[in-house]
Amino acid sequence: MKAYVTRRIPQDDLERISAHADLASWEGDEPVPRDVLLEAIADLDGLLCMLTDRIDAELISAATDLRVVSQMAVGVDNIDLEACRERGIRVGHTPDVLTEAVADHAIGLLLAAARRIPEGLREVSEGRWGAWDPWHQLGVDVHGTTLGIVGMGRLGNAVARRARGFGMTVIYASRRETGEIGERLPLDDLLSMADHVVLTVPLTSETERMIDGAALGQMKESAVLVNISRGPVVDHAALEGALRSGSIFAAALDVTDPEPLPSHSTLLDLDNCLVVPHIASATRNTREAMARLATDNLLAGLDGREMPAEMGL
Ligand code: DGY
Repeated sequence: MKAYVTRRIPQDDLERISAHADLASWEGDEPVPRDVLLEAIADLDGLLCMLTDRIDAELISAATDLRVVSQMAVGVDNIDLEACRERGIRVGHTPDVLTEAVADHAIGLLLAAARRIPEGLREVSEGRWGAWDPWHQLGVDVHGTTLGIVGMGRLGNAVARRARGFGMTVIYASRRETGEIGERLPLDDLLSMADHVVLTVPLTSETERMIDGAALGQMKESAVLVNISRGPVVDHAALEGALRSGSIFAAALDVTDPEPLPSHSTLLDLDNCLVVPHIASATRNTREAMARLATDNLLAGLDGREMPAEMGL
């Protein structure tokens, strides 16, 4: 059996895979180049991949023996699931183990944007800290406000639990009544009622550009928009317009479209737009747990056993 891992993962996990399969892996600091992956895939039984790898129909058709794709992420929008289904290729991912870390990060981003923390850091580091001024750098409240959560799966619920600790009222928009806390509302109502909005939906054809100019236009002028889902869920041109005109207060983006966001992006000129490089799950414990689960999925798929976290295709 042959397996390939597209990025460095902990040695323990590599050894577990090597015990079962003839293993090759990409050791570079950047994602594996497309041509390398296309060549490697030809005789693979199993692939452990990252969200930066495009597992599309071309790659799947080059993979004559492939039986399992195990992604080290919960989101699988980089994988052509239909092509996998047609070929009977099983797909694993890493839900649950990252939920709490990502929810912590969502709250961190909300607080940072609402209280203008990056602007304060810049002011101090650039030597612009003047005398204390009662009206300087005023933000908006987070505590006691209404939080609108778009998408109420594991992650939405984890954000909602944290929001309760801040005395927030939770409302959510979701296809199903999945909230442990809060009232489910149509998206339009959520956008106009929420003081702040957190996006946790997966990227699908339904959610792509879900937050467009019209959606942003429904939000409050004092609202912060936090995106911890996928960049293309938000129309960036419309977002920039809303931030420049002040029709929303601020945005905090863990994810962008494209990624990496080019350093010349005009979004980065805005004080009320905070951008971090897709790090919501980036704690050591969480990333190690993700690698472990991705390895467990890969090995179970190679052995034809039940995978701990398999996508239903
Ligand atoms: C995921 O898992 O989909 C995140 O975006 C990265 O942890």
